[in-house]
Amino acid sequence: MAENPAYPVGLRLTGRRVVVLGGGQVAQRRLPALIAAGADIHLVSPAATPSVEAMADAGEITWTKRPYEDGDLAEAWYALIATSDRQANTDASAEAERHRVWCVRSDDADAATAWTPATGHSEGVTVAVLTTNAKGRDPRHTAAIRDAVVEGLRDGTLVAPHHRTRTPGVALVGGGPGDPDLITVRGRRLLAEADVVIADRLGPRDLLAELPPHVEVIDAAKIPYGRFMAQEAINNALIEHAKQGKSVVRLKGGDPFVFGRGMEEAQALAEAGIACTVVPGISSSISVPGAAGIPVTHRGVAHEFTVVSGHVAPDDERSLVDWAALARLRGTLVVLMGVDKIGRIAETLIAHGRPADTPVALVQEGTTAAQRRVDATLSTVAETVRAEDVKPPAVIVIGEVVNVGVHSPLNASE
Ligand SMILES: C[S@@+](CC[C@H](N)C(=O)[O-])C[C@H]1O[C@@H](n2cnc3c(N)ncnc32)[C@H](O)[C@@H]1O
Repeated sequence: MAENPAYPVGLRLTGRRVVVLGGGQVAQRRLPALIAAGADIHLVSPAATPSVEAMADAGEITWTKRPYEDGDLAEAWYALIATSDRQANTDASAEAERHRVWCVRSDDADAATAWTPATGHSEGVTVAVLTTNAKGRDPRHTAAIRDAVVEGLRDGTLVAPHHRTRTPGVALVGGGPGDPDLITVRGRRLLAEADVVIADRLGPRDLLAELPPHVEVIDAAKIPYGRFMAQEAINNALIEHAKQGKSVVRLKGGDPFVFGRGMEEAQALAEAGIACTVVPGISSSISVPGAAGIPVTHRGVAHEFTVVSGHVAPDDERSLVDWAALARLRGTLVVLMGVDKIGRIAETLIAHGRPADTPVALVQEGTTAAQRRVDATLSTVAETVRAEDVKPPAVIVIGEVVNVGVHSPLNASE
């Protein structure tokens, strides 16, 4: 056969008969995409893997339990030939040729009239990679190219702006605890597509350095707020930029809705009639202890964890936290924004019955290169914070889980 390049095409198979010969691993891998394409799939095979069998049981394919017979491909639009019997495969591809049915052969790409590309999907686009001709066929290479393109599109490292579908508005993106690898794939992509990014001090600031030069990056803490409250000024900035038709990302530390004022921003945007998308993030309340080797729950040790803001002291009238009730719980307490008030918090917990020797760990700048963990107990924590000069941002973990983990940092940033 001449070494002309294969002609790439997308088959629209809805309701069209597709015949699959052989119910083994190849069929198992290929069937989901054929099902997703809406094909009328007829499997001919004496046996099938449990997954293929399940597709037949679910009515997604029709299964004829016998070996291939001449005539099976007569009405097909497309065939996948993947039996373990080479002679049957050869006979079937001869039949496909006679009936002019495009066919893929798992055992002999040269003899096939069609090849399955390495495919992946991202945001309404199918990426399909084929080698140019049979001589150069290297399925691992095509799969690697597919992975690189799809991953790049998903995480935003490969920027392909949407010209038709991109809608202006604001995305409230949870950036995770600080390590730039801990933002979600969706968050990273939206960041790569943004015209304006309004960022907090916490979160993955390293990602901002990767943004293209035309992206306007605004430090939320530096927005002049004049007669407004700082938060109002941020809301106004989001609204103003979105009204100019720009794609705005509000990049926040951790998750937008965990002590992140995310809902206040979403409400302000809704009032202004601006479209708003919320992208969850990995909250520091769970991930930072984890990165320091502390699980917030552990079988036989803690069946609950409670995340509390420590930004106001327990005796402060603005506090909404029932510290006496928390002192009676046996599980893990995770305190955010509590470094300054930890002395008063520890005293209150002890006063309401939590044992003074309850272990405490403070994890400062978790998941970043500067991560550090300092251990204490409820009775010593105030002094330890002073002596060790622990500074915000830190997550404070109170409870027996502090002693169950591994003390070396897990997955610390390289
Ligand atoms: C205003 S709250 C925001 C929490 C955030 N929305 C979240 O879900 O992680 C800020 C507090 O989160 C904690 N925090 C956030 N990132 C941290 C990090 N990388 N290391 C330690 N603590 C962190 C600290 O307690 C800090 O004072």
